[in-house]
Parts: sequence; structure tokens; C-alpha cells
Amino acid sequence: MENIFCHPGIAKIPYGGDYNPEQWPEEIWKEDMRLFKLAGIDCVTLNVFSWAALQPDEDTYCFDKLDQIMEMAQKNGLWVILATSTAAHPAWMARKYPEVLRTEFSGIRRKFGGRHNSCPNSKIFRKYSRRLAEKLAERYGHYENLIAWHVSNEYGGECYCENCERAFRAWLKEKYKTLEELNRAWNTSFWGHTFYDWEEIVAPNMQSEHFAEERTMFQGISLDYRRFSSDSMLANYRAEYEAIKAVTPDIPVTTNLMGFYKLLDYQKWAKYMDFISWDNYPDNETPAARIAMNHDLMRGLKNGQPFALMEQTPSVTNWLSYNALKRPGVMRLLSYQAVAHGADSVLFFQMRRTIGACEKYHGAVIDHAGHEHTRVFREIQALGEELKKLGSQTMGGRTPAKAAIIFDWDNWWALEYSAGPSCDLRYLDEVERYYTAFYEQNIPVDLISVEDSLDSYQLVVAPILYMVKTGYEQALYRYAEAGGTLVVTFFSGITEEHDLVVTGGYPGRLRELLGIWVEESDALPQGAQNGFTWRGKHYPAELLCDILHLEGARGEAVYEADFYAGSPALSCNSFGKGNAWYVATRSSQEFYHDLIRCISREIGLEEIWTPIAGVEICERCNETGRYLFFLNHTNEETEITMEDRGKCLLDGCWYDRGDKVLLPGKDVLLYFCEKR
Ligand code: GLA
Ligand code: ZN
Repeated sequence: MENIFCHPGIAKIPYGGDYNPEQWPEEIWKEDMRLFKLAGIDCVTLNVFSWAALQPDEDTYCFDKLDQIMEMAQKNGLWVILATSTAAHPAWMARKYPEVLRTEFSGIRRKFGGRHNSCPNSKIFRKYSRRLAEKLAERYGHYENLIAWHVSNEYGGECYCENCERAFRAWLKEKYKTLEELNRAWNTSFWGHTFYDWEEIVAPNMQSEHFAEERTMFQGISLDYRRFSSDSMLANYRAEYEAIKAVTPDIPVTTNLMGFYKLLDYQKWAKYMDFISWDNYPDNETPAARIAMNHDLMRGLKNGQPFALMEQTPSVTNWLSYNALKRPGVMRLLSYQAVAHGADSVLFFQMRRTIGACEKYHGAVIDHAGHEHTRVFREIQALGEELKKLGSQTMGGRTPAKAAIIFDWDNWWALEYSAGPSCDLRYLDEVERYYTAFYEQNIPVDLISVEDSLDSYQLVVAPILYMVKTGYEQALYRYAEAGGTLVVTFFSGITEEHDLVVTGGYPGRLRELLGIWVEESDALPQGAQNGFTWRGKHYPAELLCDILHLEGARGEAVYEADFYAGSPALSCNSFGKGNAWYVATRSSQEFYHDLIRCISREIGLEEIWTPIAGVEICERCNETGRYLFFLNHTNEETEITMEDRGKCLLDGCWYDRGDKVLLPGKDVLLYFCEKR
């Protein structure tokens, strides 16, 4: 089975993670190798933060230690994911070239320190990061066990320095060509902000247009700065990517993403990544559905292609206020959850727990105790054994989703920059509610961008599609016309790509498709409720109530209270061969569940298995058949009734339809069935 690493030697899920032998004396390395073997670890991510060691000054490069480490990895049969080390610049660089330092949102210029600390528009940073990536590719590209390049680390943050400001102006010129167009797009006639010279434009931060991180007086400029900022970091990534590819065209290149990370438009980034990799750090309170949703977002970035789980903690993080341990079994459970959603690797941060600085209490495969006699190590070892047994069976498998949720970074930024109608309008909240409805019913769902095709989906949900970029409405019209079922929610279709309101009645360009006109939207303060009854059941209406008129759509439910009692809270419009639903308000999770269930039944969208409370059930499939993952997130033993004949992948037992299997709390069942 082809895998994301494009390496014929990989016959099982790579297992291991971030390894920093450079922080340890060489006597320890030997012991590490013994422990890795014991734990079934066969893959290490090296060189994540070594720039200062590799380049002690501007003219000197020194690869001796990394040479030794690469040799050791090869001798010990370890796959290597080699990082480029550019996520933290050396101190000498900051001293000699202060332009590499970032300026904060507050306007304060940083001194040397921390990590992820370089100005994305510094020419010096660009030059030296690119050069380092190139040198690494030239020096280590021939290693057979080098399976991927890992550029930088968790790109993130922002910079508001003068370099960035200048680059922002250039970016704007490229985008708008003329100041007239820019003034129009930003609606600068409001508050007399008209620009007559490009040099008058300054970065939007606390010194200029903002009065809080999320609150701006001019959405136009702030939104463009987000786009610019994401593009600037992407340009850094691409510079390293290209330098590496010129030397080692066949080795895939990635950078580790962070799920729903707001500041970077990963859907744009994905085009320049050979495969997606990401770092999964839920805390013990994170609902399993939210973790799943992050995985699905990552899988959606490259049209369902499997991804790498680049990092997770084996046990504990250090950066929460209360860093609770992963309970026994949970590391294994979450590892398989990642695989169930499309991961083709299981990697940890970190292999050996460091002794100093802020991550000294972060979990690791090898604890400060330094030996294998720990709970965490034993769990890692047991999973290592299992992954060997599992081999490559699930690798390359695809998720058979016939439902999709549209997710768009620009929409996220624009919606949450807007002043009004409610400060509680949070894009992810609404996305998660719909996602959870699918999740609870074992209906696989993709998270897709506004550039992805809708053709293969029976049901598409667009939660708060506030910004409809010019032309995207056509994709939605075509989709419904051809027989698709679309669900659009309140506060959608309001603006176009510059966050300028589309006049002529909400939801703007979606009005005809949805067969409605929204005249007003009532924001309900926290705790306040309206309500409606749909198909015999009563549900609350909260947060925002769109008050609308039907223009061809069928009313499905009406508000029960206030001056708009009797006006539609839910509608459905037949459009072409399909249907377009409009959910005019926020309701309870039960409502989302029922809505998705009813619609799915009507259109014959099937669950992959009858739901079992607390047990997540996912599927990956390939030409040999279906790989089902039963993940018991509860602490209680649960019974599973087999709906298809199949084989347990770990112990080889066969089951017939109707057989019952007991699945202990936090346990996992991996099950293979032939194609239906
Ligand atoms: C991130 C980073 C790692 C490490 C871990 C700790 O994912 O990429 O370098 O700091 O967090 O949780
Ligand atoms: Zn900068």
C-alpha cells in the first residue's frame, strides 16, 4: 500500500517522535537505542531546534554532532524525519541583525528569546533559513532512512515590525493595484480614513486600528493583515521547501500544523505540503468529538489524503495550568483515534524528558527516572508491539465520507473581527455542533474548503457562512441544482471577500438558493431563549434569531415567542433536484442531532454502524476492504454487536454477524470486514 512517506521500505506505521540527543551526553545515546528497541520505536524526528549548534556564527557551519546522530539512527534501523531547525534563530543573529526579531501586537519590539521568534519578512532570516535547509538537504539527502523533511516547527504568531509594514504595503499593491480599489474594498470613506499614498498605510495593531486582539475598527485592513501574515510565513516555508526540493526532489516535505490554528490559513498552505502533519494536544477535558474534528480538518486539507500524527504527548503536557496525566489506556486510545481518522504515523513529543527550561515537566517516552520501569513506558511498549502486528494494513486507507462541512479561514477571521451582532458568535462553536451531530451518528464527514469540489457529497453543511466570496455562491447553487442537500445557518451570506455587506437583503447572494429573505437578526444575551417546535419536538432558540420571510422555501418551524413569534426558525427550499435548508437560529445539541438524522434518513445517507453511546466508530477503507475502529471513550465496558462478519486485526479472531464482543473502558477494537 502506498504511504505518505513515499518510501517502499515502510511496512508499518512509523512509531516514535521528537528526539533530542544533542541535549544529552553520548553515554545516554546508547541507552536510548536500547530503550527504543524495547519499545518498538522505529522513527525519530531529529534536529528540531539546533540552529545555534549548526551555525555558531554567520560564517561557520558545524554538522559534526548531527553527522554522528544521523549515523546512529541509521545503524539502529530508525527512520528519520529531519527538521530544518529554523523555528528559533540563534542569539548571535538577533544581536547582529535585530531585524530578525519580531514586534508584538502591542508594538513592543522583542529582544532575543523564546522560539518561533523570527520576523517572517526579514530578508536576513529568509536568507539564512533557506541556506540552512539547503545545506541539510545536501548533506543528509542521501540517507536511505530519511523519510521526510520537517520544515521549521509549528509556524505561528505574528509580527508588526517596520519590515512587515513595508511588505504589507507591497502585498496590498499587488492585490489591489490602485489606492482607489483599496479604499473601496476597505470602505475607508467611513471615519475619513481615505489613503492618498501607500506609505500612509500602517500595520493594524494596538497602536493603530485595534482596541483588542479581536476587535478592530476596520475589518478590511485587519482581515488583509491576517491574510498577509499567513502568506508571509508561508513564503518562508516555501523558500525552505524549494531549497530542499532542488536537492532531494523525491523526499516529501512537511511542517507540523496545529489543527484549528487561527492565524494561518492551512488550506492555502496545504498546496505546498507533500503531506499534512499535525500535533495533537487535547487535555483530558477535550471532548473526543473535538479531537476527531481536528483530525478531520487536517485530513481534509489534502482531499482526504492520510496525514502524519507528528506529535502527541505520551502522558502529560507542561503548558496547561493543571497538567493532568493521560489516564491508563488513553495514550493508546488517542493514538488509534488518530489512525482511525487518517493518520499513518504515531509520533510523540518527546523521546527523553529534558532536564532544564520550560519543558522539563513535559511527558516523554523516557522519563527523568531514565529507565523502562514506568507505567508510561510500558504502555508505549505495548502499543509498539501492536503496531508491529498491525503492519501496513490501515495505511493509505481513505475515509468514506459522503457528508461535508465547509470550513473557511477567511470566514473565521471576518466573522470574529466583526463588531456585532453578538460577541458570542464563534465560528468553531457552530462548526463543532454540526460536526458532533455527525460524529454521534457514525456518519463520516469531511471538513472541506471553499475551493474543494462538492460533487461527491450527499449532504453539505455550511455553518455560519458569513462571508461568501464572489463566485462561491455558484458552487452552492450548482450543488443543490444537481441534487445535493445543503444546510446553511443563521448569519450567512452577509458579506463578500472584503467583508463588505452585500446589499439587497440577507443572505445576499444565497437568497434565491435558500428561498428566503432575512430582514433582521436578534441577538439574545447569554441565558435568554426563544424556542420552536419541529416535527413534534420542542427546541430552544439561542444566541441569534434571524427574522425571515419565505420566498419560495417551505417553513419547517416557527419561533414561539417575542414580536417575531410565528415567523420561520427553520426552512427548506427545493432547488433544482436538491434542497437547501436554512437554520435561522442556534439551538441545542439535540436539535442538531435530530436535524442531521432526519435529513440523512431522507436522502439515504448511511451511518457506518449503529451508534453505541460513548464508543466512537470510524472507518478507513481501501481495495481490500473496510477497517473499522471502535474506540471506547468511556470508563465502562460496552457491548458491541457485530453487524458484519469480520476479523479482529490484533488477535485474528473472526466474528459473525450478530456475535457480541465486550469492549472494556478506554479500549479499542480494530476490525476488518470485506467490502459490502
Ligand atoms: C509543540 C512543539 C514541541 C513541544 C510541544 C510540547 O507541539 O512542536 O516542540 O514544545 O509542543 O507540548
Ligand atoms: Zn516583522
